[in-house]
Amino acid sequence: MSDHNKVEITKMDYSKDRPKAKNPLRVMDLSLRDGHQSLFATRGRTEDMISVAEMMDEVGFWAVETWGGATFDTMHRFLNEDPWQRIRTLKRYLKKTPFAMLLRAQNLVGYRNYADDVARAFVDRAAANGIDVFRTFDALNDFRNFETVVPVIKECGKHFQGCICYSMTEPRMGGDVYNLDYYINKAKELKKMGADSICIKDMAGLIAPYDAYAIVRALKDIVSVPVHLHSHFTSGMACMAHLKAIEAGVDIIDTCLSPYAYRTSHPAVEPFVMALLGTNRDTGFDIKLLGAISEILERDVLPKYRHLLDDKKMSIIDINVLLHQTPGGMLSNLVNQLREMDALDRLNDVYAELPKVRKDLGQVPLVTPTSQIVGVQTVNNVLFDDENEQYRMITDQVKDLCYGLYGKTPVPINPKVRGKVLKSYSRGENPITCRPAEVLEPELEKAREDVKGLAVDLDDVLIYALYPVTGKRFLKWKYGKEEPPPEVKPKSLEDVKAEQELIAKALAGRLVEKAEKEAPPKGENLRTFNVFVDDEYFEVGVEEPGGSPVVSYVRQRPASASVPAVPTAALTPVLSPSTAPPAALAPPRPAAASVTPPVKESAPAVREKSDADGAPLTSPMPGMIISYQKHIGDSVKKGESVVILEAMKMENALPSPVAGTIKTINFSTGDSVAKGDVLCVIG
Ligand code: CO
Repeated sequence: MSDHNKVEITKMDYSKDRPKAKNPLRVMDLSLRDGHQSLFATRGRTEDMISVAEMMDEVGFWAVETWGGATFDTMHRFLNEDPWQRIRTLKRYLKKTPFAMLLRAQNLVGYRNYADDVARAFVDRAAANGIDVFRTFDALNDFRNFETVVPVIKECGKHFQGCICYSMTEPRMGGDVYNLDYYINKAKELKKMGADSICIKDMAGLIAPYDAYAIVRALKDIVSVPVHLHSHFTSGMACMAHLKAIEAGVDIIDTCLSPYAYRTSHPAVEPFVMALLGTNRDTGFDIKLLGAISEILERDVLPKYRHLLDDKKMSIIDINVLLHQTPGGMLSNLVNQLREMDALDRLNDVYAELPKVRKDLGQVPLVTPTSQIVGVQTVNNVLFDDENEQYRMITDQVKDLCYGLYGKTPVPINPKVRGKVLKSYSRGENPITCRPAEVLEPELEKAREDVKGLAVDLDDVLIYALYPVTGKRFLKWKYGKEEPPPEVKPKSLEDVKAEQELIAKALAGRLVEKAEKEAPPKGENLRTFNVFVDDEYFEVGVEEPGGSPVVSYVRQRPASASVPAVPTAALTPVLSPSTAPPAALAPPRPAAASVTPPVKESAPAVREKSDADGAPLTSPMPGMIISYQKHIGDSVKKGESVVILEAMKMENALPSPVAGTIKTINFSTGDSVAKGDVLCVIG
């Protein structure tokens, strides 16, 4: 084995003399994309990136990842920010450093394969707006899904980075599917496609240091373009994996500035700068400059996002990845989904079921969107299956996956499951084997037509084409046709201070000033709310005696061990199913109003049980109505899907419980619904 990659240490006086390294390690910074996506639910706002952007431009990063992944979704959905504008704004401050984006190949920045015309337009516009490096991956590592976007990246004169998603079925690299040969063969495919660099994308932080060494070593022998390693800190192995990769000759690694590093994010850059100082891989970065950037972030930016950080545990690593191989983001989705469905006690069942569902579905890598597809279907199986029937509630995405719409799975899908899933699937019962987008009709012209008079340019049309429901709502906010709700507005440092004071008060039991007044006797109409503040749980009684609601503080006890940590500092009233009619459902203002806005839009008129005779179709989980597939008066068969409900980013087809005619429809597209809401009545 040659030692051309060996890290050499030169003797020198580091304070005076720091020669440029022969083969400096290149570093891509992920703070502005994967960093806040991993730690702060992608809620980072452009205005908070500007404060350090010019300083970051001086560091000498190979590239700065600023876009892609979940940013496009989160920005238009939760932040009322135009995703395209972010690139243009940041470009004004980061003038020298190339911009990278994470592109989900034919999925672009969404959760399904889009038609070729949308994919071409999207990449072209991303390049025009300022993206230089297109880090491209496919959730199934089916590179036929690269065939449309890569030529556009090349035509625009941009850098095509081909990713191989790192996945495992065993505790370490190996086994029948994801072994060293698998990665070597994938790298050869990417080389053939003209990749300008090749990235091992370890989205779950699974890669063990010696496996990283082996892969990088093998890839360096077969490709001449730079090899890049992307790994998450989640399991605690990433820093070791990076160091071993450096010893194996990796060209580029991914890091974050320290305030955005570790936990489910990435290793921090600063320790690498110091570890490699004076070696032939010295980054050349100025540690003092990095320190100054981090100081500003700590002081002016991170306090606004702290409440989003899951820091309920002492440990900053998540050993579930080592035990269950559940990627961090997927785990938090599962926990949220179970919590919303009041079924957190089933988490261990979900862990047990997950490898089975994954195997049934072709041992897919677990990365967006396959991680959600497998995760949500697993939860559905655990909650809705019984001994007589498996896969009772199938998401539309699982149907698409079984049909072949995402591409070829690493191993074939269980034929029994596939048969059941594709029964009466709208595209047909026989799966396709061609490149998925070949069966997709062009979508761009229809999108243009749909938002005529609302969209001003192609960028607007693409927001709608990728996210029809939330995208259209965003365009209405953008052009002043609809008032954005208060929860999409940014937070100031003053807001943060006020919230912290309120939480401190709540924790001290002084949330509701009660001492001065004598409490009236409790009446029959007293309703009880559960209020969670961090790990503490309050039971609050609410009664309406002639006008304004009175909040009476009942008792407090610490949340029991089985109650999970609440991710946000939310004071969320949880309405019990027996609560009174919606008119009185306003959350008790002293408790909730100034901390977080009510979580769900209420839809007062329809929350009540419908009078119409017939069988109600109730929502099995909280979510958003994507569409009704039937109209009033239409007849339906038992089991035929009636409503498409989006929950956890998956579209669930809800089947009719009976055969009959649609009597009432209680919601419309875009409405948020709670678990148990009657969506329609079939009689
Ligand atoms: Co990542």
